[in-house]
Amino acid sequence: MKVYCYQCHDATTPEKNRLGPPMIAIKRHYITTKTTKAQFIADMQNWIKNPTEDNAKMHAAVARFGVMSKMVYPESVIKKIADYMYDNALDAPEWFEAHYQKNMKSNKHK
Ligand code: HEC
Repeated sequence: MKVYCYQCHDATTPEKNRLGPPMIAIKRHYITTKTTKAQFIADMQNWIKNPTEDNAKMHAAVARFGVMSKMVYPESVIKKIADYMYDNALDAPEWFEAHYQKNMKSNKHK
């Protein structure tokens, strides 16, 4: 994940230099209490193969950064990354909790 995704999704990159949402934001967006690991891995594979505006779930991120470019990653790599994301706590930037709570209040499930 560090090698493949953090150039754009690293939580420690200062706000103004970030190219995409931090991974923890993606994790919170994709995984609800009902999401199984298999489902999450499948969602990740789908996104990586088809990153288009129609498939995007994070509309604010698309509006801000533009749709993620399509890059080819081996399925085995994406599986490992999704597996890791599901099981582990990810770094959160300082502003994240406040931002998250605020968004959860204002857009009560889109
Ligand atoms: C070149 C920069 C870049 C790299 C590298 C990159 N991403 Fe992204 N990614 C973005 C941007 C920008 C967005 C926000 C816009 C969007 O949602 O399409 C995004 C959004 C996402 C989303 C949310 C999609 C949605 O529903 O809107 C997922 C999931 C994601 N990335 C996974 C990954 C994974 C996994 C990797 C590593 C294998 C990765 N990205 C590598 C730029 C990148």
